[in-house]
Amino acid sequence: MPPADPPAYLDTALAAAVDAGGVLRRLWNKPRQVQAKGPRDIVTDADFVAQAAALGRVQSAYPQHAFLSEEGRHAIDLSGPTPTWIIDPLDGTTNYARRQPVFAVSVALAWDGAVQVGAIHDPLRRETFYAARGGGAWLQRGVTRPRALRVSGVPDLDSAVVGLDWAREPRLRAKSLAALNRLAPRCRTVRATGSAALGLAYVGAGLTDGYFHHMLQPWDLAAAVLLIAEAGGAVTTPSGSAWRLGLSQIAVSNGRIHAEFVAALRG
Ligand code: IPD
Ligand code: CA
Ligand code: CA
Repeated sequence: MPPADPPAYLDTALAAAVDAGGVLRRLWNKPRQVQAKGPRDIVTDADFVAQAAALGRVQSAYPQHAFLSEEGRHAIDLSGPTPTWIIDPLDGTTNYARRQPVFAVSVALAWDGAVQVGAIHDPLRRETFYAARGGGAWLQRGVTRPRALRVSGVPDLDSAVVGLDWAREPRLRAKSLAALNRLAPRCRTVRATGSAALGLAYVGAGLTDGYFHHMLQPWDLAAAVLLIAEAGGAVTTPSGSAWRLGLSQIAVSNGRIHAEFVAALRG
């Protein structure tokens, strides 16, 4: 399919993520309207306004493309050739609703089951983690020059800082808990950010060394998996088998700890 203009795709992903992030920053100190979406799942007014901003940006640039956005349409085949924008307008809604300052916007473009460009924007820190297939992984902080990202060089699980976030489904939460029970005694420490997109991006940026989750959606992880791969990391399922877009269970790492990491997750 297309690679008509990959730099323009990346520019559009960055602009969409920054636009939505601007909305989230503007609404940060305003009263929240919070609605229940499902068990342990909420959405705020800000999710919808941020989604409109991100979608507006990509739809006006590429009206012929498909769009998969968390608060919008979901029945989309990501393995097909149609270029599809995959958007999480607010990743970390529970944090945002409770005013915990850790959340992000994630925007990716994929076709044929492969993510081509991805951007994860942290609006409060004005940081954007981004990648283009074959073009490396980068971090833009404010208006400074982008910095190339590499995964950490931590050599073993014993020295590793590992991230996770929690599945909504009780059975999968129990699975994460069982994995954590094996992992936590063996690694340096464990972090849960409340934003899977950021938790994953931190592995690409070398801020943590591994991350796992048992129940994510494409919009949570599409941009981040490209970032991690471009930064030299490993992406598999938690049992160590090949991961592909559409699978909800994921384990990522700096590569060096991967065998030990998935062995602990698998039990
Ligand atoms: C959630 C966050 C959270 C993860 C959940 C996700 P949302 O996304 O990434 O960290 O544990 O599984 O659904 O709902 O805030 O966009
Ligand atoms: Ca999300
Ligand atoms: Ca969301």
